[in-house]
Amino acid sequence: MIPLALEEVSFTYPSGVTALREISLTVAPGESVALIGQNGSGKTTLARHLNGLLQPSSGRVMIGDWDTRQHTVAKLAARVGYVFQHPEHQIFKRSVQDEVAFGPRNLGFAPARVAQLVEQALQATQLSTVADQHPHDLLPALRKRVALASVLAMDTPVVVLDEPTTGQDAQGVRAIGEIVERVRAGGRTIITISHDIDFCADHCSRLIVLGGGRVLLDGPRETVFAHGDILEQTAVEPPQLVRLAQRLRLPLAWEPQPLLAALEQSQRQR
Ligand SMILES: Nc1ncnc2c1ncn2[C@@H]1O[C@H](COP(=O)(O)OP(=O)(O)OP(=O)(O)O)[C@@H](O)[C@H]1O
Ligand SMILES: [Mg+2]
Repeated sequence: MIPLALEEVSFTYPSGVTALREISLTVAPGESVALIGQNGSGKTTLARHLNGLLQPSSGRVMIGDWDTRQHTVAKLAARVGYVFQHPEHQIFKRSVQDEVAFGPRNLGFAPARVAQLVEQALQATQLSTVADQHPHDLLPALRKRVALASVLAMDTPVVVLDEPTTGQDAQGVRAIGEIVERVRAGGRTIITISHDIDFCADHCSRLIVLGGGRVLLDGPRETVFAHGDILEQTAVEPPQLVRLAQRLRLPLAWEPQPLLAALEQSQRQR
């Protein structure tokens, strides 16, 4: 298990847009972190630094003891699995099965381990029944899960999901939530980028809020949600339950049970 560190990372695209500004943060092994913030705040750009797809213009990114500048994307793929925001940028094989097997094969795993990892990943993403289909014949929501399965099958110590719930129905969102929980339970690090604040609050204990390429907030979800004014700057609204608690001036409890109990009690007192 490996820690991640960004040390004063700034990044400017060749077009001249500066997308990250002096970002410093560390993620300990086994943490479940959400990266949130408005469109264009730099989430995807940051994620692409974690597997070497982008290199910082200044500062450095450490994946365990590896400086991303000194290792190839292929090598970094053994440590950080990145599920792209747009699956069409990732999928290229002719069947779901082949697509999911590509990563673990490429990492040089033995055929029996590849078969086992592929089966587990297809099951977790509920794709076993479409294993022989062409990924491009699937609905976009399923294609997104193919991209997710192909990263899960690589069994990397760090998993980065870029907008995993986009376009998923309630059952798909639940399935992805269960996957995040399983990755967490296995002691792996998971970083979820999402506009779905309820999903982040349910499955990530730490939230990092980006705005204009900077870290605006970083901390446990209860602390972060208490900063409505800063969240507003980057168009993030706390979950409904949290807003309700704030309006009723109830203690900001994350688990719904204590909050509901406090609500009932305050009603009884009236
Ligand atoms: N390939 C690129 N070339 C030039 N500028 C880019 C490129 N990709 C992103 N940008 C710019 O960098 C900034 C950060 O974009 P990024 O995609 O990292 O944001 P994001 O937080 O992931 O947004 P979204 O929520 O829309 O996915 C934006 O100003 C964006 O326009
Ligand atoms: Mg993005």
